[in-house]
Formats: sequence, C-alpha cells, structure tokens
Amino acid sequence: MKKVGVIGCGLMGSGIAQMSALNGYTTVVVEVNEEILKKGLASIQDWLEKGKKRGKVTDEQIEAVRKNLSSSTQVNAVKDCDIVIEAVTENTELKKKVFKQLSDLVRDDAILATNTSSISVTELATVVKNPERMVGMHFFNPVPIMKLVEIIRGLATTDAVMAASREFALSLGKEPITCPDTPAFVVNKLLIPYLLDAVRMVQDGIATPEDVDKAMVHGCGYPMGPITLLDYVGLDTTLHAADVMYAEFREPKYASPVLLRRMVQAGRWGRKSGRGFYSYEKR
Ligand code: CAA
Ligand code: NAD
Repeated sequence: MKKVGVIGCGLMGSGIAQMSALNGYTTVVVEVNEEILKKGLASIQDWLEKGKKRGKVTDEQIEAVRKNLSSSTQVNAVKDCDIVIEAVTENTELKKKVFKQLSDLVRDDAILATNTSSISVTELATVVKNPERMVGMHFFNPVPIMKLVEIIRGLATTDAVMAASREFALSLGKEPITCPDTPAFVVNKLLIPYLLDAVRMVQDGIATPEDVDKAMVHGCGYPMGPITLLDYVGLDTTLHAADVMYAEFREPKYASPVLLRRMVQAGRWGRKSGRGFYSYEKR
C-alpha cells in the first residue's frame, strides 16, 4: 500500500490521517467543508506541536506529516488510493452513502475500511460493488496513543484483505486483533454498557459526575472516569452505538438512559461541542 484515503477529519479521522502520513504513506483526508477541514487539520498541528514540546514527536515526523498529508473537500481526491478508511459520523445511512460513492470511485482492488464503533461491516458492504474488499478497522481514541486496532471481518471479507489490513495497522505501530462482525466488536461490547451504567448513576442521583469519575480513577486506577471518557468519546457516538447494540440484542444493558438521549438532543455532545457532562467552553 502506498496511498491512503481518510474520509472525515473529526476526532478519529484526523488521528488516523496523522498516523498514516507520519508513517510514510501519501495520505489524503476529505471533509464536508473547508471550515471543518481547517479545524481537523489544526488539531493535527496542535497534537504534533504539543508532542514536540514533550519530546515525543521528532522534527522528522512533523516533516513527514507536512510532506505526506494533503486534504480536500471533494471525495474524488481518494480515487487512486490503495486503501480508504471511512471515519464519518456514526450513522448507518450516511456511511452507506459514503461507501456507495467510494465503490463507484476507487479501483476494484482497493480496500474499503470503516472505523465504525458499532455498525455491521456486512451491512455497510451491501452497497459496495465487490464486498469482499470491505473490512472494519476500528481505531481507538486518541488514535496516536491507543495501540489497539480491531480488524473486523464482514461475511464476505477475504483472508487477503484481512491480512493486508492487519499489516497496514502494524505498519502504523498498532496492535491489531481480529473480530467477527458482531455488534460493537470486542471493546465496545464491554465499554458501552459500562458508560451507560455511569450515566444511569448520575440520572438516578446515586452519585455526581465528579464522584463517579473519582470512584473509577481512584478506586480502580482507570486513567479517566467514565463520565470524562463519555465527553471525550462523544455522547452522540456513544448513543448511536448503544442504539445499534440494543436494536441487535434487545438486552436492557444496552438501552440508553433517558438522560443520555436528552443530552444528545440538546447538543451536549462532549468536548467536541464545548459541553457534555462538563463544560469545555473557552471563557
Ligand atoms: N504527542 C505525542 N505523545 C503524546 C502527546 C502528544 N501530543 N500527548 C500525550 N502524549 C503521550 C504522553 O507523552 C504519554 O506517553 P508516556 O506514557 O510514554 O509518557 C501518553 O501520551 C499519555 O499522556 P499524558 O500522561 O499526558 O496524558 P494522560 O495521562 O492525561 O492520558 C489519555 C491521556 C491517554 C487519553 C488517558 O487519559 C487515557 O488513556 N484515557 C482513556 C482513553 C480511552 O479509554 N480511549 C478509548 C475510548 S473508546 C474508543 O475509542 C472506541 C469507540 O468506538 C468509542
Ligand atoms: P466526529 O463527529 O468527531 O467526526 C466525524 C466527521 O465526519 C465530522 O467532522 C463530519 O463533518 C465528517 N463527515 C460527515 N459526513 C462526511 C462526508 N460525507 N464526507 C467527509 N466527512 C464527513 O466523530 P468521530 O468521533 O471522529 O467518529 C467518526 C467515526 O469513528 C464514527 O463511526 C465513530 O463511531 C468512530 N469511532 C469514534 C471513536 C471516538 O472515541 N469518538 C472511537 C473509535 C471509533
């Protein structure tokens, strides 16, 4: 693989594009408009600068990103890529629309990967001309730090595509694991019910957000409490993943608490919207 396309330059797409360019791949990232693209590219720049100050990012790596990363608001920009990773908003219909476009655009042997947190790879592959080249590549947030990538096999995915995706993840310095196409795969099957339980505790007045966080950080040694993590991941993404899981399994543990749904309806999506359970608005 030489050329990588990334669709979406939000939290995840920006991180994936950064890691791809930093590891020597010619990379193009696509967003819906210039304003959002600028914000995504600025977050990459910010990450690299902070990393340099910490002594974690070298000048050579910054130069590699500058040289290898380009951007566009036109999906056509990915047409000659060897692999395209979709990282758009967690919404089945939107993702299908994107894959339909990609399927008509890229070479027949180019790999099409989705970074979805919960949606079936097999379902997304229904809109793709040759579904055997469709795979899940689930990165974790923050992408530059989190080592895991879940490589998800759709019903049609070939062994060759699984192997190439695994090799690609390894070349980005990641630790891949393979998963079948079961809703939310491995990590989110454990993580989402935990996050929903934390919201239920707040909703039911058992503990404040701060105390739920303190409990898990100081009681269990987690790097972040679940409410902080929800704000970090995005309440919208978490709600959509929970809804997908509930629709598939019909188990109460995957049912969203009312409070989570109301907060998403109110636009309190976490860090990315300036407010979730905590406030991130600049004073
Ligand atoms: N550039 C390079 N390296 C950086 C950096 C930067 N800009 N910023 C931080 N780092 C490095 C640090 O140097 C440090 O490295 P060492 O451990 O080698 O010293 C490491 O990253 C951690 O940095 P900090 O110690 O400053 O940060 P922290 O202690 O506040 O940790 C965190 C931040 C890594 C995000 C931590 O809070 C954490 O692990 N949180 C949980 C994240 C998590 O659970 N993610 C998964 C979410 S679920 C998901 O993604 C799936 C889904 O589908 C929703
Ligand atoms: P986000 O809201 O930060 O970013 C999504 C981006 O996609 C937005 O910037 C949006 O403008 C863009 N977009 C929407 N339609 C597009 C299109 N047609 N073409 C190009 N760009 C388009 O969301 P995110 O957190 O980056 O999540 C992206 C995907 O990654 C989702 O499927 C999510 O479930 C998954 N994911 C998220 C996390 C997380 O912690 N947030 C972790 C792993 C996986």
